[in-house]
This record gives sequence, structure tokens and C-alpha cells, in this order.
Amino acid sequence: MAKSEPLHTEIGDFAVPRHIAIIMDGNGRWAAARGLPRGEGHRRGVEALRRTVRAAGDLGIGFLTIFSFSAENWSRPAAEIRELMGLLRRFIRHDLADLHRRGVRVRIIGEREDLDPDIRRLLEEAEELTRENNRLVLVVAFNYGARQEIARATRRIAAAVAAGDLSIDAITADTLASYLDAPDLPDPDLIIRTSGEQRLSNFLLWQAAYSELVFVPTYWPDFDRAALESAIIEYRRRERRFGGLVARTGS
Ligand code: FPP
Repeated sequence: MAKSEPLHTEIGDFAVPRHIAIIMDGNGRWAAARGLPRGEGHRRGVEALRRTVRAAGDLGIGFLTIFSFSAENWSRPAAEIRELMGLLRRFIRHDLADLHRRGVRVRIIGEREDLDPDIRRLLEEAEELTRENNRLVLVVAFNYGARQEIARATRRIAAAVAAGDLSIDAITADTLASYLDAPDLPDPDLIIRTSGEQRLSNFLLWQAAYSELVFVPTYWPDFDRAALESAIIEYRRRERRFGGLVARTGS
């Protein structure tokens, strides 16, 4: 990654959301609009990811979660899956040292069992190397689906009940939350989806209960610091009531 640019001033001294999650959508359409292969869209998507991680760190965002590969993405053509796996390998091999230098802690959510052993090792290495960092937590949702995550949590709860470590009557929403893939993370304040689509597509369904959703028309490869700042400004305009009456705007 290049050296970080000076902090953009449009946001001024406003507080930023603590946790932003992004559905990086539109790589294929970005490429098609230019007569390029889809893979070129994904490659440019990685550049957008680098920009966004840098901007998030500069803006003082604590947690950035990115939807990198969904449990449903396995239904894409084998060549595209190979390409996405290759991009993840390269992203970790090339960018890990730089992320580490910038104080980024990498966390992974999703099902690791059915990933290639070398990808699993790379993901574990990224988590291990950056474990002590605390400037920005980058949560990579890889082979991730929210329903599958909730099913995993339910299996863990059932195992705890079967082992006699948990009583059925003690199970609450907080219990379930504590068995999710990364239970110590705060829920996202803001979820951004690029490309104009307006759905969650099985992303963070449990954690999104009170998130503000901001949908932007930009295709992911064109996403940059200014687009991130605009989404944050939109978020700040929203009133967050968490089911109560008093607005708690922004965070
Ligand atoms: C959506 O575009 C994006 C993805 C399926 C994957 C996101 C991947 C990257 C940004 C690059 C890879 C980064 C890592 C770290 C693995 P789409 O293909 O669904 O676009 P479309 O809807 O326009 O076809």
C-alpha cells in the first residue's frame, strides 16, 4: 500500500461510526461497462479495498468488516472462484506486512472447514501476526453467510447444553450473540452496499438488527475515500433510536 494521504477535511471533527461493514458489489458490472473481463473488475476491487482500509484507519474507524466471499459465491464458474481465491492469497501475501505496520488487526469470520488448507493457513497467519494491533480491526468475511453463522452458533449452543455447561432456560439473545463467529465485536453501526443493489444478501443478519443501511450507486472498483465519507455523512443525518424514543444520532 502507498503511504497514507493526509486526512480529508470534509468530515471535519465529526465523530465517525465505530463499526462500518461493506458489501463490495459491482465488480462484474464495472468490468462489463468497460468491455473488460470480470476478473479485471475483481482486481480493481482489491485496489478499492486498499484505499478503503487506508481511509478507514485515517478517519479513526475502529472496525471495518468486508464481505469478501460469500457462502453462495461457490456457485460461480470455477475459473472465477479460482480468480477470487488467488486475489485473496495475493492480498494477504502482498499486503499483510503493510497492514501490520499500519496497526491493522485482521479477523476472519465465516466457515473455514471447507477452504483449501493453504488459504486457511494464510488466514490464520494474518490473524496471528496482527493479534496485538489495535488501530483498526479489519474483519474479513470469507466463505461467510449469516444464516450459516447462526446455524453454527446454534450447534455450539446445543453442544454446550448436551455437555451440561448451559441450561436451556438460560438461553437468551445475548447467549446466541456470544456464540457467533466473532462475539467480541460490536454490531455494525453502518452497513454500506455499493452498486445500487438494496439487500443484505445473507450478510451479518443477526448483527444488523439496528444498523443504518446506506446504498450507494457506485460500483465497488470506483469506491474511494470521498465515497466512504459521503456514506458517513448520510449516516450522521439518520436518527438512531434503537427501538426507543430518544434519537442518538451518529456515534
Ligand atoms: C461483488 O462483485 C464482489 C465479490 C463477489 C467479491 C468481492 C471481492 C473483491 C473486492 C476482491 C477480492 C478481495 C479479496 C480480499 C478476496 P460481483 O462480481 O458480484 O459484481 P456484479 O454483481 O456486478 O457481477
